[in-house]
Amino acid sequence: MFFLNSLEAWTKQEFEDFFRSVWVVKNNLSTPQGRVLSQSALSHVHATLFFDQPSTRTKMSFMHACEFLGMHTYYFDGGASSSSAKGESIQDTYRTLGAYSDVIIVRSSDKNLVLDMRQDFKAWGYNKRIIQAGGGSEFHPTQALLDLYTLWEKSFLEKSSKIEEKTFALIGDLKFGRAIKSLLRGLQVVGAKKVYLVAKKGSELPAENKIEALNSGLDLVETSSFEDVIEKADVFYIPRMQSEYESVSSDARQGQPKIKTPDFVVSPESLSQMKPDAYVMSPLPRLQELPEEIDTDQRAIYWEQEKNGLWVRIALLHHMCKDLILKNKIEEFGA
Ligand code: NCD
Repeated sequence: MFFLNSLEAWTKQEFEDFFRSVWVVKNNLSTPQGRVLSQSALSHVHATLFFDQPSTRTKMSFMHACEFLGMHTYYFDGGASSSSAKGESIQDTYRTLGAYSDVIIVRSSDKNLVLDMRQDFKAWGYNKRIIQAGGGSEFHPTQALLDLYTLWEKSFLEKSSKIEEKTFALIGDLKFGRAIKSLLRGLQVVGAKKVYLVAKKGSELPAENKIEALNSGLDLVETSSFEDVIEKADVFYIPRMQSEYESVSSDARQGQPKIKTPDFVVSPESLSQMKPDAYVMSPLPRLQELPEEIDTDQRAIYWEQEKNGLWVRIALLHHMCKDLILKNKIEEFGA
């Protein structure tokens, strides 16, 4: 696999195999000896992160993941200090990154950018690995992988029900939340059954995403009431309101979108109505939809998701670059 944009191309077995490899990576790299060994796996490989949108955990976990594998790692935001400020086209910009890098990890406001890159690199004769790290309001496959891995690990370690046996509630900004859309694609592949879509008018999941999910056999139930699902769902997934996709309001501070008030809040009172073994998840960053008071409840697992993001991205990079690993290093690494 040299390219990752969306998860519908994966099979259920590939998810299972991948989650097992994340588990191995997590265990191996939790020891100093494992960390030293992993450093030599891909130390001749060059990776570039090309991010034109803000990021904290995706950027940092990918940077650390590359470093864990010993890769030479560069960060490029295509901004004022680059030739795009002189008017260079985006195509010439990414071709230039492709000239120097073996792996390109991309976050962009343009949901089609990585698809365009793949096409262009093919025509240009570049055989590069490209990873989608957030594309417009549509794609965020590595977030979905870490979300699903966190649930897989829970069912594996704590013997809770399997992902496909759980009922999901996707809550809030379903219109622009790319993590939601990628998670929904992952749920289709693992064979989840029931998914509640909880959104107020104007924030509903777009029709094309709904049709895609329905065609895959998911049972989608739409509601605008959190109360309707609070005692029924096993997993509550609630991203922040994606204010940056709305037009900038007149009272916004310069260059920053006005932060929208969340349509739903997971308060301590709402937690008290949820099942005792439910999970509350978020891709983070969290704003007012997840008040700090709930952080210490064992059902709030978003900080675990964040930590797993590192192991998932190491396993993914390792998997995508397997053929580049020097032969005698594969056994040492163990995954
Ligand atoms: C998400 C994103 O960028 O889409 N964050 C992340 O990658 N962890 C969600 C968000 O920004 O709300």
